Amino acid sequence: MTSWRIRDFHSADLDGILHLWETLKASNVEPVYALSEVLASCEKDHAVVAVQGEQVVGAAVGRAAHDQGWIVFLATLPEYRGRGIGTSLLAAVENRMAPHGLNKLSALMPESETRVEAFLGRGFVLKKNLRYFERRIPVQRQELEPLSQLGGRILARDLWENVAGMRNEKELLERRLVLPLAEAELADEFGVVPPRAVVLFGPPGTGKTTFAKAIASRLEWPFVEVFPSRLAADPLGLAGALRETFLEIAELEHAVVFIDEVEEIASQRAGDPPSPLQGVTNELLKIIPAFREQPGRLLVCATNFIRALDSAFLRHGRFDYVIPIGLPDRQAREAMWQRFIPAAVVDDVDIELLVERTEGFSPADIEYAARSASQRALENAVYGEGDGGAPGSGAPAGSAVRRGPATQDYLDAIADTRTTVSAEVQQEFLEDIDLLGRV
Ligand SMILES: Nc1ncnc2c1ncn2[C@@H]1O[C@H](COP(=O)(O)OP(=O)(O)OP(=O)(O)O)[C@@H](O)[C@H]1O
Ligand SMILES: [Mg+2]
Repeated sequence: MTSWRIRDFHSADLDGILHLWETLKASNVEPVYALSEVLASCEKDHAVVAVQGEQVVGAAVGRAAHDQGWIVFLATLPEYRGRGIGTSLLAAVENRMAPHGLNKLSALMPESETRVEAFLGRGFVLKKNLRYFERRIPVQRQELEPLSQLGGRILARDLWENVAGMRNEKELLERRLVLPLAEAELADEFGVVPPRAVVLFGPPGTGKTTFAKAIASRLEWPFVEVFPSRLAADPLGLAGALRETFLEIAELEHAVVFIDEVEEIASQRAGDPPSPLQGVTNELLKIIPAFREQPGRLLVCATNFIRALDSAFLRHGRFDYVIPIGLPDRQAREAMWQRFIPAAVVDDVDIELLVERTEGFSPADIEYAARSASQRALENAVYGEGDGGAPGSGAPAGSAVRRGPATQDYLDAIADTRTTVSAEVQQEFLEDIDLLGRV
């Protein structure tokens, strides 16, 4: 048997590396670095292989990062172990990395890997009391380009938690949308077809946009908003631009695609002569079935005016759910006040009373009232009690400048806030839930 030798990695060795990788996995060792990372490092960083004849029997791959180097892969075929190949491979790869002037060389090994003699043989010391953390980044590198073209982005991770109250809506969305999309395999086992498209409808300012974003954040999928008004300026025309946009979206692995005020491009097609937007509505009706065929994405359309939508648009088969997002109930209003009142004063404010006085307020109205109360209280605290200072809102006797708004500031602001959703609109909304809602 000829003896083994060590040489630099060539592209032709990729199969050999792959084989080593598979052997490692087969022995129940889950390597820390992904295969794609190891292969990238083979090509771009430093890699050496041990060969017997032309067979790759071992490999070491290293990556230099500033002053520290990392061994991203070290493996020897089982039948070649115990011959010092690992130690020689490490020595060789260290040698290739030496010109970087590294002052530390590190390696991460899965706990299940027991063959660590090569490291010990090369003077590596096992560091105790370390813990390794990792998180998957949901967007792949090749998606960055189409994503930025589309103006899409990854949203903050806490948007879902930040939706205050709205317990019923949240639970519904969590069960119907998030669960089957996030647990696609499990859903499949149960024969659940994951939703592909939903409509959120409800009066202005109730949180439709907020929910669309929160869903994307919850799924950790990129959020891509399609703006028909911007596409209208495209040389292809609105219908053509819409088609192009959805072709680009098809390149993404995952996405929550949002169309706000969808009634503007999908309103009833009645009328003679036909509205110039009819071609756009028709285009959208064609786009949705194609969109539905691709996994890993969700179309969310929002509207204040669901009655105006073309009936073909809403029929079964296009949208899985037509979900009402209405005014917040007591519990939701309480959660919102808790959220909007600064932590330092929240315990001193009579939230019960604010909840009472904001019946019929939308989240947007409550947010507005909370902000104006804060602004007034700040002005009063800094410039002294102005005409906004109602009796009872002043500082308690003997105290210095009051920090933060008090109940009365909120009540004043509430009294000055005109609610967005009239009783008539609310009534229509309730009718729409009966007629058009589908959950
Ligand atoms: N559950 C909530 N908790 C806290 N803030 C909320 C909540 N829902 C909505 N808001 C706030 O209320 C405002 C209006 O919400 P949003 O824009 O989502 O409403 P919308 O239904 O999309 O309104 P429109 O119909 O006008 O588009 C936003 O500033 C949002 O941050
Ligand atoms: Mg909105």
